Amino acid sequence: MEETIVIKGGNRLEGEIELQGSKNSSLPILAATVLVDGISVIENCPELTDVSAAVKILEHLGCKVFRQGTTLTVDSRFIDGCSIPDSLMREMRSSIVFLGSILGRTGQARLSSPGGCEIGLRPIDLHISSLRLMGVSVDISRGHISCTRKSYNSDTVISLSFPSVGATENIILASVLGEGRTVIHNAAREPEIRDLADFLCKCGCKVELTAQDTVIIEAVQKIHGTRHRVIPDRIVALTYLSCVGAAGGDVLIKNTDTDDYRTVLPFFEGAGCEITDKKESIRIKMNGRPKALRDIRTMPYPGFPTDAQAPLMALSCVARGSGVIVENIFEGRFKHVGELVRMGAKIRLEGRIALVEGVDSLYGTRVECPDLRGGGALVVAGLAAKGITEVCNISHIDRGYEKIEECLRGVGADIVRVNK
Ligand code: UD1
Repeated sequence: MEETIVIKGGNRLEGEIELQGSKNSSLPILAATVLVDGISVIENCPELTDVSAAVKILEHLGCKVFRQGTTLTVDSRFIDGCSIPDSLMREMRSSIVFLGSILGRTGQARLSSPGGCEIGLRPIDLHISSLRLMGVSVDISRGHISCTRKSYNSDTVISLSFPSVGATENIILASVLGEGRTVIHNAAREPEIRDLADFLCKCGCKVELTAQDTVIIEAVQKIHGTRHRVIPDRIVALTYLSCVGAAGGDVLIKNTDTDDYRTVLPFFEGAGCEITDKKESIRIKMNGRPKALRDIRTMPYPGFPTDAQAPLMALSCVARGSGVIVENIFEGRFKHVGELVRMGAKIRLEGRIALVEGVDSLYGTRVECPDLRGGGALVVAGLAAKGITEVCNISHIDRGYEKIEECLRGVGADIVRVNK
């Protein structure tokens, strides 16, 4: 039996949405609990299949994990494993973030290679070369990565050629315990990195994020458990803002932190949305058809986030005028374009550039989620479309959006999840 999301488009959205915690913060923080010889309590951890996959990995390593609502308690005192089987690695590509923490805790780690995914090849060369610089011996053969730490350098300086989020997280996780000092230049500066560093510092680690793009880690011998609240999910907030921008309405999003995505708000304002930004809540009002959006170029933080590209493209599809979207981060991140075109969108693709010519209306039809954020885009489009949109392959959506249909039904959308 396959679940689908069925949307009857055209309803104005009105009311309040309580925003979920961040998926991309929860995963590295759950990985970080492996380093703790004690108990960690992680609040605001959304109920998502990617989070469940992380919990399965923790349990496989010997942790005891309890969930009560959105609070996860992880007891990592009796860790007895240092490998992740292929089946668990395949459930979630981001499992690679466990490499650094398993290595940090046990001195060795064995994982199967994560391989590519829906949005591109997703190499891990930066993770591997950085670990080698730190003095870790890394052997890659027959699809497996085996790491062993024989000694610690007193000083390691890593300059990333690109500010990779995952590589920055893995280097931090691999270097907080033990000996020596690690400096990462051109590190990723995403809010999720700051959240990971906050968690680790509360546990007794020494991780300093400088105002520029440098992270300095002084290793310590032992860390303790703590209680931590995961930051709100900025990408889910931007998806819901896109829903209101495209369908029209008046919605208050609560439990957010607009500091984490303020650079994206002018795109909504330019489209004619009225935004009231109170940092921990944001209200969006939209009447009528959106105006053409400013050109979008995805960039590392604080630039326009690649994860918000697809939802804002869906908004752009119904705008009065044309817009350009350049995807600079992932090579395979336009797979939603074909599905939007099936709904009547006018989009031309030239390599990493999409030219979107707004149409009066999209039309509901059966569409397939190509990936997580592409799935978010199809929901945005379905809310604005005439008629019924049937969104299939929604396991992608469930990786990152917690109870999306309940949140949107709560603000007046005609949206249901059905078993076919
Ligand atoms: C994380 C996010 C993802 C987001 C992305 C960029 C999580 C779980 N996922 O993914 O939602 O879209 O950041 O903000 O937090 N690259 C290399 N070599 C490497 C590592 C990365 O070439 O060793 C390239 C990638 O192929 C990609 C770019 O760098 O083109 C960005 O990747 P990265 O920042 O590492 O993204 P992830 O951590 O995988």
